Amino acid sequence: MQATILKGKPVATHILENVRQAVEQLTQKGVRPGLAVVLIGDDAASHVYVRNKEATCTACGMYSAGYRLPAETSQEALLQLIAQLNADDNIHGILVQKPLPPHMDEAVVNEAIAPQKDVDGFHPYNQGRLWTGGEGFIPCTPAGIMQMLDTYRISIAGKHAVVIGRSNIVGKPMAALLLQAHATVTICHSRTAHIAEITQQADIVIAAIGQPQRIDATWIKEGAVVVDVGINRLPNGKLCGDVAYEDVLPRVQAITPVPGGVGPMTIAMLMQNTRIAAQRFR
Ligand code: GUN
Repeated sequence: MQATILKGKPVATHILENVRQAVEQLTQKGVRPGLAVVLIGDDAASHVYVRNKEATCTACGMYSAGYRLPAETSQEALLQLIAQLNADDNIHGILVQKPLPPHMDEAVVNEAIAPQKDVDGFHPYNQGRLWTGGEGFIPCTPAGIMQMLDTYRISIAGKHAVVIGRSNIVGKPMAALLLQAHATVTICHSRTAHIAEITQQADIVIAAIGQPQRIDATWIKEGAVVVDVGINRLPNGKLCGDVAYEDVLPRVQAITPVPGGVGPMTIAMLMQNTRIAAQRFR
């Protein structure tokens, strides 16, 4: 059977069009949604991601406030900027791009952002809300994956989902969402013993380890659904995921490509979260 290719772009385009319409209505009511994006340092990939976020923000009709800070910025100065943005009524969402420079403490920065403006969903308040089933902001990449699985009618309830990776940005919130959708969830990571034996049992595999093409066909059960969160660059300059796509393709029921799979969904969910944050001020 031919595998379904789970493309993120058409799903993201649809969400962004809904966001654009909602932004238009909110703006007419006097609340133009605003997103502040803060980037510290010179990480080349982060600069590309941030430009993309700001451009999408503007394309949706939102106010985009960009802040570029030098790598040697003190944590105190960053916390001051965040406090100023927390108090700014024109800003509904605040995003501090990761990774941070090594002298900064990610947990302190995440907790400085007001939970109601935390459109990344990284604040412990929102992470706790996610695990306890309450209302809050859900991290954009896992939220986008759930939206995509729903759109492509991939059933989750009763399935064994294996999440590879345990970051606060992807792995942990992904596991929470799959659990909420009634999957049986296993989280694997760098210290997991006999990892391929576990992933071979999975109906749904979420790969978020950041290692190019690490997951090959021997890790994957026939008929599994594979979601690849990785964005890695090969020595020849080409982008690839954590999954060896061509190797795995003949075995799977469905798979996300890299690029063009999960990537566009992350930005779409960020815009949706910012729209939701602004709507609360209506
Ligand atoms: N770096 C990689 N992904 C993300 C994300 O979703 N949000 C932020 N703030 N930084 C990131």
